[in-house]
Parts: sequence; C-alpha cells; structure tokens
Amino acid sequence: MPHPNTDIIPTIEGLAYGGDYNPEQWPREVWDEDVRLMRDAGVNLVSVNIFAWAGINPGPGEWDFARLDAIMDLLAGAGIKADLATATASPPPWFSQRHPETLPVNAEGVRLNPGARAEYCPHAPAYQEAVVEMASRLAERYAAHPALAMWHVGNEYYRSCFCDLAADAFRAWLRDRHGSLDGLNHAWGTTFWSQTFTDWSQVLPPRISAETPNPGLVLDWRRFGSDALLALFRSEADAIAKRSPDKPITTNLMVTGDFSGLDYHRWGEHMTGPNRLVATDHYLIPEHESDIEWPAQVAFGADASRGLAGGSPWLLMEQAANSSAWRRGYFAKRPGDQLRHSLSYVARGSEGAMFFQWRASRYGAERYHSAMLPHGGPDSKVFREVKAFGAQLQRLAEIKGSTVVSRAAVLLDFESCWAAATPGQPSSDMASYPEIRRWHAALWRRGVTTDVVNPAWDLGGYEFVFAPHLYLLDSDAHLRGYVERGGTLVIGPYSGIADRNEHVHPGPPGAIRDLVGVRVEEFAPLPEGATIALDDGTEGRTWSEAAHPIDADVVASFTEYPSTGAVFRRRLGDGEVWYLATRPTDLGPLLDRLGITADAPAGLELVRRRHADGRTYLFALNHTGAPQRVDATGEDLLSGRPWTPASTLDAGETAVIRERAAARTRGR
Ligand code: GAL
Repeated sequence: MPHPNTDIIPTIEGLAYGGDYNPEQWPREVWDEDVRLMRDAGVNLVSVNIFAWAGINPGPGEWDFARLDAIMDLLAGAGIKADLATATASPPPWFSQRHPETLPVNAEGVRLNPGARAEYCPHAPAYQEAVVEMASRLAERYAAHPALAMWHVGNEYYRSCFCDLAADAFRAWLRDRHGSLDGLNHAWGTTFWSQTFTDWSQVLPPRISAETPNPGLVLDWRRFGSDALLALFRSEADAIAKRSPDKPITTNLMVTGDFSGLDYHRWGEHMTGPNRLVATDHYLIPEHESDIEWPAQVAFGADASRGLAGGSPWLLMEQAANSSAWRRGYFAKRPGDQLRHSLSYVARGSEGAMFFQWRASRYGAERYHSAMLPHGGPDSKVFREVKAFGAQLQRLAEIKGSTVVSRAAVLLDFESCWAAATPGQPSSDMASYPEIRRWHAALWRRGVTTDVVNPAWDLGGYEFVFAPHLYLLDSDAHLRGYVERGGTLVIGPYSGIADRNEHVHPGPPGAIRDLVGVRVEEFAPLPEGATIALDDGTEGRTWSEAAHPIDADVVASFTEYPSTGAVFRRRLGDGEVWYLATRPTDLGPLLDRLGITADAPAGLELVRRRHADGRTYLFALNHTGAPQRVDATGEDLLSGRPWTPASTLDAGETAVIRERAAARTRGR
C-alpha cells in the first residue's frame, strides 16, 4: 500500500487523546471542572461544535460565535487542542421549517419529520449552500486560533433521500456515468421486464415498487449516494482549505457493524495526502451477539481504517468507553477491556484514541451512552482506566508517524459488497461483509497482522492475499499478476460472477475461471444452518456448487458429490491460487494447509509498528487469563523495564517494546 502521509496531526505533540466535547450541554462552571479533569487524564484533543448549529446560527442570517469563542479560548488556555467541527450534521428546527424541502424523503415517498439529527437531503440546494457558508465562516474565524488542531467536517455521513431533487441529481449522475439513455438501458438491462427508458424523466430513484427492483438501479443508486455525500464533504473541505490551508481536514467514517454504506475507497482518495487524514468511528458489537470476540473486532475496525488510509497512520475518532446507547441492551466492558482496546487501535496505526464522548449527557437521546467521564463521576472504573491510558499514551509519543507491518491482506470492495446484496440473488445469506470479517478474525486468531485493502491496489508486498467474497470483477488480470509474481491468493466461492454492471459473466466463476482453473456447473446454496461435509473432515456452510477442475488440483471434495471438487489449488507462475466452492465453517484447517500456524498462543496479540528509519515497536496485548512469554528484546515503553526473550506479560497486561536493532529482523 502507498504511504502518502505520516504526520497527520502536526500540531499535536505525541499521540492524540480525548473525545467529543459538548460543553453547550452544561453550565459554565462545569467547563472548568472538565478542563481540570481532562488535564488530569492527559487529554490533548477534543472534538467540539459537532452538533452546535443551533447555537452558532440561531436563525436566518443570525450568527453568534460568543460561546464557541469561549470554548476555544478555554481550551487554548489549558493547552488542549480542538478538532473543530463544522456543525452541519444536524440542521436546527428553524432551518427545516424555513426550507422544508431539505427534510429527507424515504423510499416510500414519505417526507421525514424534524426532531432528530442528520435530517437533511444531500441534494437540496438550500442545505448545500448553508453548509458551505457555515464551513467558510468557521474557517475564517478560527483558522488562526491557537486551539485549532484540525477540522472535522459534518459527522458520520450516511443520509440518503428519495425526493424529486434527488431524482434530478441521480439522472445527472447517470448521464455522466453511462453517457446516454442507450448506455443506461444497456447497463441496467432494461429489456428485462419491459423496462426500457425512452426519456430521462422516466428514470427514478429506487422508491418502493410493486416487485423486485432492477438490480442495476439499486447498485447505481448506492454508488450515486456515496458520490453525492462525498461531494458534500468536499464542498465543505474546499471552503475550509481556502481559508485554513495549513490544518488537516477530516470527517469521521464509520467502520462499525456493516460499514459498507459508502464507497470509502473513493472517499479515501480525498481523505489522504497533504492536510487530510482518515478518521474512523468504531463501536463494538456486544460479544453475546457476535461470533467474533471483542479484540478481534477491534483489530478489524483498526485494520480496515488503516486500509482506507492507504497504510498511513489514521485516527480513531470515536469509540465507546463502555456501553453504546443505541445497542440493544446495556452492557459493560470488563475491567481492562478499554485499555487493551485503545492500545490495539494504536498498535494498528491509529495516532491516538478518541471517544464519544468526554462527559456523559444528562439529557437527550444519548443520555445513557457511556463516556470518558460517566454519570458516576471520576471515582469510577471507566475514568480510572481513562486516566491510566492517558498516562500510557504519553509514554508512547515516539511511535507517532510509524506504520504497521503486515504480511497478509484481506480484500474488501465496497461495490462488490453492495452488488452481492442486490435483490434476486440465489442466496440471501451470501453477504460479503460478515464473511470478510470472519476471515479476518480467523487470521487474527493465528496472530497474523492483516491489512484490509482495496483489491485494485498493489498487492505485491503480501505473502498471502485472501478474497473471501469478490462477487463483482471485470477481469482477473490484477490478481493474476499478484499470483504469477509469487503470491498466494485464496478466493472464496461465488466470486468473479458478475461485471461492474452486475451482468452475470457466462461460464461461472466468470472473471476468475481461468485464474483458478475451475469450472462451476451449478450453484447449490445451502439452507440456513445447514452444513455440507468434505472428504478431508471439514465442513462448508451457506453455499456449495458443482465445481470441476479444468487446470487445478482437487484438494478436497464434497462427500456426497465425490465427482465435484470443494477445495482447489493451482500453481501459477511463482505463486499459487486456491479456490473454495463453499464457505468453510472453520477456517483453521485451510490456514493449516497454507502453513499459517500461530507463532504465539491464541489471545496474545502481537503487532509491530515501524518508522521509515527502521526503528520498530512490538505491541504485545495479553488477552488471555495467564502470563505469556513475549519473545522480544528491547525496552517496554509502558513500564520502562528492559525486555528479554524470557520476559513475560501478566494476564490482561500490555507492553510496547522498543526493539533493539538486532531483534528487528522478524516480520509478522
Ligand atoms: C456515533 C456518532 C456520535 C454518537 C455516537 C454514539 O455514531 O458520531 O455522535 O452518536 O455514535 O455511539
């Protein structure tokens, strides 16, 4: 992966620590306590003004910056920097009342009522103009403020709208993409069900219709939605950059849950490079609702964020100190979880750790969301850990600007994830994204640091590349090049099936058929919960297919259908490619076959960051219940103690070992 930028927040000394700070919810005297406790906890960066539109711009043409001035001055006086937000994520009631066309319309055609946040139509000119004005005014006023560290545009972009303004914008986007109505008719295959368009005015968003909508429409709508929000982000970012050219600009992307809502690889192009940085929010799925344990979830969120940043350092902008208000059921993190999670993000390239939010709110929709400073006050498990981690981060300042060393990659293509979820698929259980996460977790359990990357990138540096589900693919050329030059590629089933218009390639598995040397005669999806046995003692789930080798070795077959293969391997050039005709219930045996054995006990997480000059740091996180030996030589920055290969890490403990030059040779 490219490394375009390693100094992402230059005005912060060392690593960033803090969270969303909403002093507008509190009387003035509380602010003083906030700042005192922040300093106590080592907080050096807070995100302010995210939901403060109503205060700054209380009516049409009315502007009042007094409160924000006071907040910024308070922070500057305390030596705390601001991640200053543009406040555009939540238009106030007066704005929606004055511009009712800015309220979003859902797929049923119902205009939503005001009363919550993110209530805007991305295509409404009044909203588009208002956000640029807001960003411009803020940038003019605060560009030179001593508290300003960086700009935070909007908040967690995700909104879509199905109104007539959206329909117009969609048509313009489609003209651009497909050139002509003929081009559109071809791309969407409108001869099917007599859907041929004869005039652009007939083209509509995928509003609720009588039957299964055209999958081409559904897919293009998602692309369009992502591009429209990216344009909004860019309009604010450009307005800021003109007035505040020397400060980094970001927005908080979401790597939470199924985060494939936007095409973040396209976003990444505008969030990396000079004065840009990738920032992400990550909220964990409660362990009782997931088959992936928390440390592995943390690792995925972090590795995916690093992927969006092209391998550069990035920033964890939000995590929960404890429970998330919007998750079903309240849950508490166990003692030590928060410390280990925060350190794992840093190990995996984050230049610090931030939370939503600093102080728990007394009112509002998120009054029961956890915070760095809980309702229980500073004498609490959460705040004690917040303080402890702040102190740890200060000892890690020297790792700033280093990047993560990884030997494997998992491929993630957002368009492909969307296309695999369009209506009318042979199985509604073949979602891509959970499968990508599952493969990543299997590698995590083997101690392999894995990048989560765009398949179009240069994959040359990886020993192993995994493509759990790459449904959309026009050509195998790029992947073939990786294999021929010596890489090992593993491809999951139902990959290479359709092209970018989601037209099915004849002769499955279509675009990868020659690459994997396998012919698929027919698909045989499995009912939910069912498994299929393989003759090597393993099992598959969700999917199977009648697959035959053309030019590949059959490594394992389905026991019921011995004439068809289930796992194939083909040597190609200097490398090899594996193809799976089912989703393995357990990925362990496959990793065994590939020779990927754990070189540390399960639950001992080891990740290395490296500076361009060769200095390396081994992060060791002991998620197990017993002491573990960590084979490294150097000094633990957290405890200050020398580290030898005989040193052990107590249960639940963490170390960051600055490695001696001679010990740096082994990669992970
Ligand atoms: C994020 C959002 C924050 C807050 C948080 C609670 O998605 O950016 O404003 O709502 O969730 O988990």
